[in-house]
Amino acid sequence: MRQKIVAGNWKMNNDMAETEMFLVQLKKQVIPEGVSLMIAPAFTNLNHTYQSVKDHPVTVVAQNMHQSEKGAFTGEVSAAMLKSVGIKTVILGHSERRSIFNEDNDLLAEKVNTALKNEMTVIFCVGEELSHRETDNHFKVISEQLEEGLFHLSETNWKNIIIAYEPVWAIGTGETASPEQAQEMHAFIRKTIADAYSNTIAKNVSILYGGSVKPDNASEIFSQDDVDGGLIGGASLNVESFMKIANAFE
Ligand code: G3P
Repeated sequence: MRQKIVAGNWKMNNDMAETEMFLVQLKKQVIPEGVSLMIAPAFTNLNHTYQSVKDHPVTVVAQNMHQSEKGAFTGEVSAAMLKSVGIKTVILGHSERRSIFNEDNDLLAEKVNTALKNEMTVIFCVGEELSHRETDNHFKVISEQLEEGLFHLSETNWKNIIIAYEPVWAIGTGETASPEQAQEMHAFIRKTIADAYSNTIAKNVSILYGGSVKPDNASEIFSQDDVDGGLIGGASLNVESFMKIANAFE
């Protein structure tokens, strides 16, 4: 079901001590009514974080997982391992996984299948490079990422899918997409899902924006018709800025 979501992707930041400091402050906050708050700490801190906030309205999210159920994959983490420490939501397809770790749409489709088979919720990231936008290929790229990564799914599967649109040129750069650019692509994503499935499926999918969301720009972005919240990087590492963004819905 479509919901307002503010999710913090901590990436490779915050060791245990820094995570604990964040959690102590976070638990003192009043979570805004109707907003689903999520945090994605490093694998090493998932168990502690889950145990720390399990009585609070905060969802703890994994930043990745392997497509296999178990086996000889040194350094990897499986869906079952995540579920064993209470984690039921996972980010897949982040542009850093695509560009740095060469995760293509076919591999991501396998990861999505494994996550859904384990009854997990997937935050599936899509986003274009600046070169794509400059050559007016950004819609084509996003279509391909959706079609090859998700459009094999059944209608039922879509209750466990959240989309995050993260233009790569806006990630970590301070170059946020304008509210109009975000709305245009979110509407395109929603229509692409509607054309592939149905209006009902499309209108019930939460589509988050990510890419240099800050306390001073969140409200205008979140006010767009097809923006259901944000996937936040740098600004999610600090409780004060993260909560200002969580309170940015009008
Ligand atoms: O997944 C969220 C992240 O890619 C956005 O990073 O630092 O631009 O908010 P940032």
